Amino acid sequence: MSRKILVTSALPYANGAIHLGHLVEYIQTDIWVRSQKMAGNECWYVCADDTHGTPIMLRAEKEGITPEQLIARVHGEHARDFAGFLVGFDNYYSTHSDETRDCANDIYRKLRAAGLIETRTIEQYYDPVKQLFLPDRFIKGECPKCHAKDQYGDNCEACGAAYAPTDLIEPYSAVSGAKPELRSSEHYFFKLSDPRCEAFLRRYTGRDNGVLQSEAANKMQEWLGAPGENKLTDWDISRDAPYFGFEIPDAPGKYFYVWLDAPIGYMGSFKNLCAKQGLDFDEYFRPDSTTELYHFIGKDILYFHALFWPAELAHAGFRTPTRIFAHGFLTVDGAKMSKSRGTFITAESYLNTGLNPEWLRYYYAAKLSASMEDIDLNLEDFCARVNSDLVGKYVNIASRSAGFISKRFNGQLAPADAELPAIKAIQEAAGRIVELYEAREYGKAVREIMALTDGANQYVDSVKPWELAKQPGREVELHAACSNALNLFRLLTVLLKPILPVVAAKVEQFMNLAPLAWADAGTLLAAGHAINAYEHLMTRVDPKLIDKLVEANKESLAPAAETAAVDSKKAAKTEKPAAPKEAAPAADGLCTIDDFMKVDLRIARIANAEHVEGADKLVRLTLDVGDDQTRNVFAGIKAAYDPAQLVGRLTVMVANLAPRKMKFGLSEGMVLAASNVDGKTPGIYLLSPDSGAVPGMRVK
Ligand code: MSP
Ligand code: ZN
Repeated sequence: MSRKILVTSALPYANGAIHLGHLVEYIQTDIWVRSQKMAGNECWYVCADDTHGTPIMLRAEKEGITPEQLIARVHGEHARDFAGFLVGFDNYYSTHSDETRDCANDIYRKLRAAGLIETRTIEQYYDPVKQLFLPDRFIKGECPKCHAKDQYGDNCEACGAAYAPTDLIEPYSAVSGAKPELRSSEHYFFKLSDPRCEAFLRRYTGRDNGVLQSEAANKMQEWLGAPGENKLTDWDISRDAPYFGFEIPDAPGKYFYVWLDAPIGYMGSFKNLCAKQGLDFDEYFRPDSTTELYHFIGKDILYFHALFWPAELAHAGFRTPTRIFAHGFLTVDGAKMSKSRGTFITAESYLNTGLNPEWLRYYYAAKLSASMEDIDLNLEDFCARVNSDLVGKYVNIASRSAGFISKRFNGQLAPADAELPAIKAIQEAAGRIVELYEAREYGKAVREIMALTDGANQYVDSVKPWELAKQPGREVELHAACSNALNLFRLLTVLLKPILPVVAAKVEQFMNLAPLAWADAGTLLAAGHAINAYEHLMTRVDPKLIDKLVEANKESLAPAAETAAVDSKKAAKTEKPAAPKEAAPAADGLCTIDDFMKVDLRIARIANAEHVEGADKLVRLTLDVGDDQTRNVFAGIKAAYDPAQLVGRLTVMVANLAPRKMKFGLSEGMVLAASNVDGKTPGIYLLSPDSGAVPGMRVK
């Protein structure tokens, strides 16, 4: 029976760019989801931007825009970066949404009814100039232990001491520089220390319950304290105005703290997907649900996901997560990502430098395991590994055999030898490899797949098609050898598909295959199966590109461009903003290649087109942009096109245009059309690509 599974990755903050550290998580999750889909399970992958909090409010203010404008722009950037790395969300939403607000209010009211919400008056630093209560990270001063200057309000970067902001010597506001005042205000607390929460969490996070990895379960025992010693403290879930977030019901001027509504954003995004897909939200969230819920997160946010979140869900009458999967942090060349070294690498710069996203997906997969250990991106090893494994071993099998089938055998395969040891080895290993994907042991899976690839290459080396091809009268052997090789290649492609979705799609195209799923690892191609012409699958990494990438990140990233985190748990940069990255302007109104590359043009298929009630120029288009993602776009082409004729057509769209709220709804991009500027030749002409282009391809 097929499983019903809901999967999430952590919601990235809406005030910074996606970088290669983030991508560890999104690529890890995406591989898992693709593997579930290949098993025929009903698996939904949702995510969203985490949009609330003081840092986002202040960042918008510095840029001279509203928080809504900031989060709309960043949403476009994040969606573009994730699509660029082939992260196939079923829904990428925002916590600043009606669905998330409704779920947050609902959970809050249920917790309140259960007696788990309490108010208390607390004292907190207040910036009298900015007229704002300051989060710990926005207060700086001298470390009370080692007397280092300019340390944050929660811990000292010089000596590592942790303390309260009120312990700082000569504190000042990092926002205005003013001396902060202590002011009291009423705050709302979630009573995590309540015996009901404690009892629930002991059971839920216990080692034998299997929700957490063992390292994480150990950490929880530390946080909970020994039985009888309840170390849990109540959680402050409110912030005072001004704050960018959701106002708490019946509490004017009080807002939910960003971490209260952030995980609820998982529900909000899923609820939004349910409406689009006709799914039953309650089936996934009621307490006796038989569906599965998995959260992929980094180890830094375990506390929020393993304690607060399940305790809230359990006491508000919802199901709790089936498992929480925490991963480690990314280092580059053995050290923390660093701007001065150029190793704080943004997703955008990686793609703009011309590096292939599947190289990184493969490298991460090869390094990932089910543990919480950090993983290292060694740039030299990255080149070597991708070139030797993917290009040298895997792609090589097809490139050495496909041409002969096309040229000599009219594109048709001979029967495969089902007893060939290399074929049998793959078919026997397939089940085990699927289990390794399920267990998030991708590194082990990749090692097995590469050993099988070596076996396939040994077979090709032993039959030497290139020599058979020169010897008259050996056509039958040549045909058999190449057909076996292509069958081997197809089986290996099945095994690599969760990691390399684009390569797999190209293989499906050139080998003329229906979308590959796990079941295909048990079959071989029938004699006479016709393939199409071999299509180039993947190039080698040129190490010069890596140098270019590091250079690009050295120049472009001034301090304030760093991803700022939103709360005291994590670093929030409050330095003066540096000038945004701008390419040098070109003379005479020309645009530089860098300017041009900022525009993300993509092939899109018009999945649906309809009239817009009350609009005389607009047609509402639903664009399929590849990878099961769609965009809603309003196009002013009604005068020239009947919507019915547009459905199914391919066109070109601007994929990273900031979404625009229109009277009729949100427009998430723009389609390209020609029209005459002088008005002499009337009409509007939608662009179309040559045949062969598929949704999601980049146009440049
Ligand atoms: N907004 C919160 C999550 C809310 S979830 C309800 C947040 N955002 S984040 O942008 O800082 O991080 C998003 C995810 O990326 C987190 O799971 C985080 O652990 C992960 N990573 C961010 N930097 C990372 C590395 N350098 N390495 C690996 N993962 C990292 O936290
Ligand atoms: Zn110190």
